[in-house]
Amino acid sequence: MSEALQYFPRVASLRGLARVSGHCATHGEFVAHVLPGRVPLCLRCDVEREAANRLAEQRRAVLWGCGVPGTFREAKFRDLLEVCPEQVAVLQAFKGWVARVGKDRSAGNVVMVGSTGTGKTHMASAAALNLIAHCGLDVRYVTSDQMRVEVCETWGKPGRSENVELRRLAMCPLLIIDEVDILDSNGHGLRILTNVIAARSRAGFPTVFISNQTKERLIEIVGQRAVSRMYENALVLQCYWEDFRARRIGN
Ligand SMILES: Nc1ncnc2c1ncn2[C@@H]1O[C@H](COP(=O)(O)OP(=O)(O)OP(=O)(O)O)[C@@H](O)[C@H]1O
Ligand SMILES: [Mg+2]
Ligand SMILES: [Zn+2]
Repeated sequence: MSEALQYFPRVASLRGLARVSGHCATHGEFVAHVLPGRVPLCLRCDVEREAANRLAEQRRAVLWGCGVPGTFREAKFRDLLEVCPEQVAVLQAFKGWVARVGKDRSAGNVVMVGSTGTGKTHMASAAALNLIAHCGLDVRYVTSDQMRVEVCETWGKPGRSENVELRRLAMCPLLIIDEVDILDSNGHGLRILTNVIAARSRAGFPTVFISNQTKERLIEIVGQRAVSRMYENALVLQCYWEDFRARRIGN
């Protein structure tokens, strides 16, 4: 049976189809069964196009659900203006890490600390969008507080459990946790954050941690054990330069 007949046994059984040879620039000579007068189309191209469309659809779904905040849904590295040599160096180091993690999931963590308005969320969002679109990596962006809400929301809901939600956060191939230090006072946020950090460290999955706090202050807020795991095998990026928000409003 010809290749075309194998793909379309039902259609080919119809009378009136002509067996026509064709040439595809990618796949070479082929035979197709078409209505008389129609141009034969390469079925292998068709199959490949469908697979590419499915992949693009999957990536669009991941992009949609990745959690990057609305204002950063279009964030790009190239939109970041040069501010000072330290910022240029941080950007270069971070882009290097993004390229590594796109190929090798054991690239380690990133700890991005610094003052407000220095582009930390922008850089992390650009990285997430890049890795989803170009590497098909399943990236999620959350804040500590969002993790608390997502996990606590499962309480008392049929078919949902805290453990499943925690596992989802723990097993995400790349998790970006922004505003690490902004935690609730009743303790669930801290418990959930330390649980996710410990589980990801055990599994060896890369995490980007973003905070305005120094390491010493983070230890006071989230504890020595969690901070030790955050900084384990991590690229540490210090973002201490002017507040870009202040520049824009002319302060
Ligand atoms: N170098 C830059 N060039 C152009 N725009 C920038 C630059 N740095 C920051 N921005 C813009 O300034 C705003 C603040 O940046 P962003 O929210 O990423 O800062 P942040 O470091 O996360 O601040 P915070 O610690 O308060 O969360 C964003 O709109 C961002 O796009
Ligand atoms: Mg931010
Ligand atoms: Zn073809």
